[in-house]
Amino acid sequence: MSAVICGTGSYAPGYVMDNDRIAELVETSDTWIRERTGIRQRHIAKAETTTYMAAEAAKKAIEQAGISPEEIELIIMATLSSDIILPCSACEVQKEIGAKNAAAFDINAACSGFVIAYNMADAFFAAGQFKTALIVAAESLSHLTDWTDRNTCILFGDGAGAAVLKNSPGKHFLSVTHSDGEKGWTLTCKNRLGTNAEGEKFSREFYIDMNGQEIFKFAVRKVPELIREVLQKNGVQQEEITWFVMHQANCRILEAVARHIGEPSWKFPMNLQHYGNTSSASIPILLDEINRQGKLKKGDKILLAGFGAGQTWSGNILVWDM
Ligand code: UT7
Repeated sequence: MSAVICGTGSYAPGYVMDNDRIAELVETSDTWIRERTGIRQRHIAKAETTTYMAAEAAKKAIEQAGISPEEIELIIMATLSSDIILPCSACEVQKEIGAKNAAAFDINAACSGFVIAYNMADAFFAAGQFKTALIVAAESLSHLTDWTDRNTCILFGDGAGAAVLKNSPGKHFLSVTHSDGEKGWTLTCKNRLGTNAEGEKFSREFYIDMNGQEIFKFAVRKVPELIREVLQKNGVQQEEITWFVMHQANCRILEAVARHIGEPSWKFPMNLQHYGNTSSASIPILLDEINRQGKLKKGDKILLAGFGAGQTWSGNILVWDM
């Protein structure tokens, strides 16, 4: 038995910010951003909250799965940009969509969040604890972006993606997840203003801060290793994989990974040109897009790989069954 996706959904805020608009805010250009990242535009949340976007994506996934919200037994929400600290976003989504019977909690594994949520739901299924789950990832990264920092504001976007999972007969694939806390400094977003137990106020930078080159090198080194480890652990040959669905960080990262493992870049679907880097939401938004475009065929083996802050990187194989 293993987790299979039986519905996907996504949501992107209505306001679109193109590269020319960013070039009015910081010293950059449409050409530089396109050539170095592949990004042409990003969606930016204005009225939309992280919970709202997550719930909209979830409703579409549930509708496509053809189930009622009451049938969902588990909701795992991946986010690093929840609207509030408590209650957790997964419980807020539960309330919004009426999934009364679900256990719900959040995880924060940055850009690896959706893949780790998938792995966790699959592990709960394997343990016999749940049979139907909603995994959802949503980010309002624009709220954590320093719009005067050209290292980061060119990259990120907002949005949400979701998938309904069911426990189904078929080969069970083993996931791979790694973390390296020593490299946490490469991508940070520190606490907001607060007061400690002695009543002393502390204030720290609370914008996303990134060493782009370090993250780039990390991704290009670790993701090919991750792909090989996932394949080897599951006894799957690389040529059996139809699609490599990767976190949408930068087109040059995806192209370098494809080159390293000797695959054509068309096997690495990409939509970051329209959305920018939406962290945990990038993989489910992409999955929903290629699903609704009819690109995924029953029996396709899809290798998922997420990587990012932590540092964390995680992968798994799923068989398309819709
Ligand atoms: O989800 C995981 C999160 N993060 C990532 O995946 C980020 C991974 N890293 C990257 O995508 C890339 O490192 C960036 C897109 C962030 C930067 O691209 P790069 O090719 O690594 O640029 P760089 O930092 O090496 O800078 C190259 C040049 C420098 O100028 P000089 O020294 O060559 O004259 C920078 O000052 O480009 C300059 N530069 C810019 N110019 C225009 C850096 N940022 C910009 C900018 N616009 N936004």
